[in-house]
Amino acid sequence: MLRLHVLDIVFLVILLPENVKLLKNGLALTPPMGWMSWGYYMCAVNCDNYPDKCLNENLILSVADTFYHDGYQEAGFEYIIIDDCWSEKERDENGKLVPDKKRFPNGMKYIADYIHTRGLKFGMYTNIAEITCMKYPGSQYFFDIDAQTFADWGVDYLKVDGCFVKEDYLNTGYIDLGQELKKTAKDMVYSCSWPYYIQFIHKKMPDYQKIAKHCNMWRNYHDVQLHWPAVKAIINHYKNEYDRISPYHGPGQWNDPDMIIFGTGALNENQSRVHYTVYLMLSAPILLSCDMNKITTFEKKLLQNLDLIAIGQDPLGIMAKPYQLEQLVILWVKPHLPMKGDRFHSFSFAIVNLDTEQHLISIYPVVYGVNSTDGYSVMDVFANTFRKNVTLKDYIQVVVPAEDVILYTLFPL
Ligand code: GLA
Repeated sequence: MLRLHVLDIVFLVILLPENVKLLKNGLALTPPMGWMSWGYYMCAVNCDNYPDKCLNENLILSVADTFYHDGYQEAGFEYIIIDDCWSEKERDENGKLVPDKKRFPNGMKYIADYIHTRGLKFGMYTNIAEITCMKYPGSQYFFDIDAQTFADWGVDYLKVDGCFVKEDYLNTGYIDLGQELKKTAKDMVYSCSWPYYIQFIHKKMPDYQKIAKHCNMWRNYHDVQLHWPAVKAIINHYKNEYDRISPYHGPGQWNDPDMIIFGTGALNENQSRVHYTVYLMLSAPILLSCDMNKITTFEKKLLQNLDLIAIGQDPLGIMAKPYQLEQLVILWVKPHLPMKGDRFHSFSFAIVNLDTEQHLISIYPVVYGVNSTDGYSVMDVFANTFRKNVTLKDYIQVVVPAEDVILYTLFPL
């Protein structure tokens, strides 16, 4: 597991913009990694007819087993999150939410305990409205009871959706529910869909300063769909919104581009590399959503590539900055640790080609902030080799294949 060191905290304090207030619950200091049911399973409640695609206890425990036995946990995958469609349609006589009796026969505490004994963490879902997006009971009017129920069950992460409510209510509801979570004294990563609904449903600009003060992470954009155009739309959104959203992004407070769609057959290998690399360059949460048995050997190797994960889980948590090199070629640049002294970061450069043809690209790293006059060693992350060192005078030239990415990490010499 990747941990924060004292020295890293010092760097982190130096780098954060002064006006940005952290949600100080000490959680999600690196972007959460794990699995969440929605992207692939959605509201899979028809288990009699579709036993292979069923949101139930077995599924959740089996993800925990896979994380535990197949190297995911060691790579940093930690949270296992049940999304919508987990409850009965009615609360109990005390107003408490009740897990679906057939699909979750032992309740949620049992699942949390199972997950915790494997050293993993457990997440759940609710909506800020009276009903969830799929019309199961939501938390409006029950913030205190629900916060306590989630705490009693041992929930470590709560995703709170924002369907069906007015803009004003979003702006107060998320704060109020956050207060109730805090009162329980149970650590829970607070994942808010607040800005998505403000921007795309109510057509206003989210107040990110406020959101970052109350949430650990937040959805900015539409739900990912299981196809390449959806992934490209997400990448373009983060490119276009970089200036607006990057100041609020850092340890404990993450912009969330939604799930990774590996294990669904939706992407080819090059596209998968692009999808995962851009998310890691953004320091985005990494949440898989698939039948874990369907992850290919290629995807598994990519998911567990520690040189890549080190970029995404870097303790500084800086969101990569996009530069449009050509119409469909974007360079993402991310400063990160290790540093040489206190002035020279390492940098990762991801040259992302969204075109269906290859492009020959030349970049002068000095243009993008590298500053050590002693030069840099250059790791080609996917080739797992080092290229020739570069100085501040040198350029790097490379052919980027169609719908693919070249990723270099530069370490100051
Ligand atoms: C919304 C969210 C999704 C998922 C569904 C559940 O669409 O954005 O991530 O939680 O609701 O109904």
